[in-house]
Amino acid sequence: MQNSVLQNTHSRLRRFFIESLKDIYYAEQQLVKALNTLWEKATSDALKDAFEDHRQVTMTHVSRLEEIFGLLEVEPKIRKCEAIKGIISEANSIIDDTENDTLTRDAALIFAAQKAEHYEIATYGTLVQYARVLGLNDVAWLLEQTLQEEKEADSALTEIAEGFVNIRALQEEEK
Ligand SMILES: [Fe+2]
Ligand SMILES: [Fe+2]
Repeated sequence: MQNSVLQNTHSRLRRFFIESLKDIYYAEQQLVKALNTLWEKATSDALKDAFEDHRQVTMTHVSRLEEIFGLLEVEPKIRKCEAIKGIISEANSIIDDTENDTLTRDAALIFAAQKAEHYEIATYGTLVQYARVLGLNDVAWLLEQTLQEEKEADSALTEIAEGFVNIRALQEEEK
């Protein structure tokens, strides 16, 4: 009985799960580009490095999702994700609101980037649970890797903010 439930390939949850994968597949692709912009606009080398590292990791998130689509035998398609578009457009307005070559810019970029990471953490956290309940253990394991990497990216940003960015930003005065 349990097996037939777990292998129900026509379940509504499975269909919803696949739609949600398409959504995050789009989001990850947009984030590869956005992280390049964040890298360009950041002031400190430490933050630039963090954005570049996470851009590389994000490219592996895209290919990991392609691997998952392969395991599920569905075509890797994107579905426009309004949430990530909103988060990225907020990051762009933050760039407009802060000056080049300031630590206030870096503090603000961390603020914007952490919103993206938290969005991804929420998404992958739920997707891991769905994959498990659907009996897709290989898929759950892959999603779990990505979830861990999002958490690491988030902590790395917190460390940079608390390490020197916020305190130096505090010392910057308006001209
Ligand atoms: Fe990601
Ligand atoms: Fe991320």
